[in-house]
Amino acid sequence: MKQLFYFFLGCVFLFSCTSEEENRTTEVISPNKNVKVQFLLSATKQPSYTVRFKNETVIDTSKMSFDLQDALSLKGNFEILKTTTNAFNETWKMVWGEDEEVVNQYNSLKIELQETSTLKRKINIIFKVYDDGIGFRYEFPKQENLSEVVITDENTEFNLTGNHKTWWIPGDWDIYEYLYTTSPFSKINAFKDYIPGSHLGQTYIPENAVNTPVTMKTDKGLYLSFHEADLTDYAEMTLAVDTVNYKMKSELVGNAKGIKVIRKTPFETPWRTIQIAEKPGDLIESKLIVNLNEPNTVDDMSFFKPTKYVGIWWDMHIGTGNWDYAGENHSANTKYAKELIDFASENNIHGMLVEGWNIGWEQWWDKKAKKVHFDFVTPYPDYNLKEVVAYGKSKNVELIMHHETSADITLYEKQLDTAFALMKDLKIHAVKTGYVGSVIPEGEYHHGQFMVNHFQKVLEKGIENGVAINAHEPIKATGKRRTYPVAISREGIRGQEYNAWSDDGGNPPEHLTIVPFTRMLAGPIDYTPGIFNTSLKPYKENNQINTTLAHQLALYVVIYSPVQMVPDLIKNYKNNPAFQFIKDVGVDWNKTKVLDAEIGEFITVTRQEKGTENWFIGGITDENARVSKVKLNFLVPNKTYTAKIYKDKLDSHYLHNPEVYEILEQDVNSKTILELNMAPGGGFAISLIPKN
Ligand code: NOJ
Ligand code: CA
Repeated sequence: MKQLFYFFLGCVFLFSCTSEEENRTTEVISPNKNVKVQFLLSATKQPSYTVRFKNETVIDTSKMSFDLQDALSLKGNFEILKTTTNAFNETWKMVWGEDEEVVNQYNSLKIELQETSTLKRKINIIFKVYDDGIGFRYEFPKQENLSEVVITDENTEFNLTGNHKTWWIPGDWDIYEYLYTTSPFSKINAFKDYIPGSHLGQTYIPENAVNTPVTMKTDKGLYLSFHEADLTDYAEMTLAVDTVNYKMKSELVGNAKGIKVIRKTPFETPWRTIQIAEKPGDLIESKLIVNLNEPNTVDDMSFFKPTKYVGIWWDMHIGTGNWDYAGENHSANTKYAKELIDFASENNIHGMLVEGWNIGWEQWWDKKAKKVHFDFVTPYPDYNLKEVVAYGKSKNVELIMHHETSADITLYEKQLDTAFALMKDLKIHAVKTGYVGSVIPEGEYHHGQFMVNHFQKVLEKGIENGVAINAHEPIKATGKRRTYPVAISREGIRGQEYNAWSDDGGNPPEHLTIVPFTRMLAGPIDYTPGIFNTSLKPYKENNQINTTLAHQLALYVVIYSPVQMVPDLIKNYKNNPAFQFIKDVGVDWNKTKVLDAEIGEFITVTRQEKGTENWFIGGITDENARVSKVKLNFLVPNKTYTAKIYKDKLDSHYLHNPEVYEILEQDVNSKTILELNMAPGGGFAISLIPKN
């Protein structure tokens, strides 16, 4: 009996010892105490973490490790050397953005780890816990046994607590231009239905993984979105899915040599982020991603003003013109450019993009023959670049330069200096870049470390020369616009152009009711809204825009970008009263609020224009008709505003009656509740101007 007692006592003692050691935990809680992160070392002394929201586990024990080339994995046998906690609170101003003032408040925990084995390698993990989610990153300090780090895999787990409803696109290493699938997590299948279409220049999906931001809704109605912040000199993170155990694991984009990241210590990884919200709109209002980036480093951004812009662009997509000079109807000619400048200047639009202006378009997609030879300084003979720039300046319309690189990075980087010097010379302050096709040098992918560094190089050239960058086929946004406000916008989405030529029916009406909660959480989008000729007649027999005209107007408020295109042909805007909304709508904002939303169904957003007291509202729906109740309680009390409402008619329909709308005008104040019908694929746009 006595023996049994001692045995039992021994067990209890042993158990409590090991449990204390093995599960040595450290916690950090958000300022409002709702979000809690717990760090722990597992039985093998491997780092791991959990996340709780209001005492519910949202991320269960998730392990962290790194596999390295020609070295042992950084995986276990760690001990905690030191922990540091900190509380931080600041308010900073966006140079341009959705909100002028941003509150950045969090509590942080830094864990300094060292291996107990002979190598004694060190790694630190830093958690920042906000009211709206968390970010964590790894720091590799300078050390003898870890100087050059060749990462073959980062294994950061995100262990979900259920089979959440998920909005996802495949973890393609080359392109984000997909429609979102809505499915239970267990049904994610990145390969299914994603046989590369003829319209995608390049695509590579090596495994069942998703690209971020990937957004989910739990059974309890909580919204989660996974992404990354401050992606610098590192590979992008896709998330490999384990659809049986409801787990995700970081899967970095590599290159043909199987290498993901090469760095020298000291360095730090991007932040791995989880946004947590009780309402879908809170995901959009959250500033987690930008807050996790460093403050602005560009002293003088006065060269860039948010603007709407017209362009020689849609013509090529609907086939009324061509990029190349050798073909018929070369669009980028001086005469047409001047016509567009006149139109822009008459309509409160201060930018103009011209594509197909420079030599090289004849071979732009001929990758096999390796014949990409764009020249970024020499215009075609029918386009007088200097004359167009000067004419634009005289009318307060600035040219937006265009560089389609066709992803030939070797070629582009050789010309970067001269191309940017030309823009500086001509006082051109923005460029749209493009990366269609597979990357040259061969073996690199659009989302790997090599390309991340290329995009960084271009941003730096932009800063040096006073040029803002709007990249297409880009690396995803990770909030770096805070540090480098020259990163004004990017594509990285299945944009409007797919409606002009895709062979799969175009973007369905629900597309833009999902995008604000996925792609847009990363940053501004160059979607190019505002097509009025939604039937695309007579140009495109088999294509159309799957929204009503009112829905197109609403996108200027729903989709955020400091540069918003006004892409349709001039004749489709002229004499159309709905164009007044595009003329009036702001592009730079003091305040943004999501009034009502359900992901994949509908969304209503309001934004207050910077520098005025005007508010604008945009509401859109998926393929279902709805009635939206819009409370104007965000307006200044006791003030009367003129509301101009552009909305669907009762018989509007995105398929068979998309271009009919009505305009209503009425006085409103902060007590007004508007009731607005939306047609299938429809929407509404409202301007609210204070009455004197
Ligand atoms: C793809 C871009 O998304 C599109 O906007 C552009 O017109 C073409 N590339 C040509 O550069
Ligand atoms: Ca594109």
